[in-house]
Amino acid sequence: MNDRVLSKWTPRTLAAQMLGTGEPATKGVVPPVHVATTFIRDADNKYRSGFAYGRPDNATVRQAEAVIAALECGEEALLFASGMAAATAVVLALDPPAHIVAPRQMYWALRQWLVAAVPRYGYRVDLVDMTDLDAVRSAISPETRLVWIETPSNPLWSVTDIAAVAGIAHAAGARLAIDSTVATPVFTQPLTLGADIVMHSATKYLNGHSDVVAGALAAARRDELWQRIESIRTQHGAILGPFEAWLLMRGLRTLDVRVRAQSETAGLLALRLSRHPRVAQVLYPGLVTHVGHAIAARQMAGFGAMLSIRVADGEAQAIATAARVQLWKRATSLGAVESLIEHRASIEGSDSPCPPDLLRLSVGLEDAEDLYVDLDQALR
Ligand SMILES: Cc1ncc(COP(=O)(O)O)c(C=O)c1O
Repeated sequence: MNDRVLSKWTPRTLAAQMLGTGEPATKGVVPPVHVATTFIRDADNKYRSGFAYGRPDNATVRQAEAVIAALECGEEALLFASGMAAATAVVLALDPPAHIVAPRQMYWALRQWLVAAVPRYGYRVDLVDMTDLDAVRSAISPETRLVWIETPSNPLWSVTDIAAVAGIAHAAGARLAIDSTVATPVFTQPLTLGADIVMHSATKYLNGHSDVVAGALAAARRDELWQRIESIRTQHGAILGPFEAWLLMRGLRTLDVRVRAQSETAGLLALRLSRHPRVAQVLYPGLVTHVGHAIAARQMAGFGAMLSIRVADGEAQAIATAARVQLWKRATSLGAVESLIEHRASIEGSDSPCPPDLLRLSVGLEDAEDLYVDLDQALR
């Protein structure tokens, strides 16, 4: 599809048809997997096909990137071997001694890397409560080059005002990057709210079938920072493999319908669980009782399919509940068609702000009543 056609259709339509990508030789409606790692030069020593070697670039990866750029309303997208590879590339593209402001409560492995490893590269990192805009303003210094946010944030699903933080970051000359894994482009398009870069663990909703590890970045513009990120992907050999990119593209075709159905079920479960006698608290941005509900209602077109419950009687009872489920899968990760339950504190360790009685629920595509009945018997 050319640019004029691209702007005519909605992201949902573009993703369903993979931007019209097919196989011109046979007129197949599905593109092949491009597996070549090296390419023949033209007679004049040039590479007119645009491809030279598989570490910087791959045609299947480019096709999947184009779909993600369309979904995020970005100028470009880049795919990485994991969400962590995508996130770390953004940080490493900054010039030390850059200062980075990140959330106190966010995906634990990235927070751990920011705190433990990033200072060794010569950067300075401060963690703040991103729901407190005064705290964000106070954390900014003249050296701040990057503000990183995650909304809704894992696993308390606190909500950050993207447009407000973009304003604060830009006033200080810093960029705003956002982990939008949980919101997905179906519910939030952060680049349209002022973010500069949006990041996804594409392992989660974008692929959606628990069979690919991948990461994605999309950029509002192809500027110098973006070109550095692209160089880092090449230098670190962090590009996604072509088979994974092809599977990811297949997942993207159904992203919209999956995420809407999962979110609807999550909303029903959140309401019912909030009345359950063995549940002390339900954390879900779609509940009016959630502290971030008003901002979520403003910047999200749906509240997502992730929620957490705090089990009455504490940690031991929470772990016992997770052990008693029969339908929910007791496993880490999120965002796929099967529902998952996890005691997060067991994973995140003692420096985590995650309460010990919390169970994280990733709602899949199963029947809402089946999911509730199984949780109800496990919460006994
Ligand atoms: C919100 C969020 N961001 C980033 C990541 C890291 O992604 P990956 O596991 O694909 O490296 C995860 C993984 O669980 C996540 O949940």
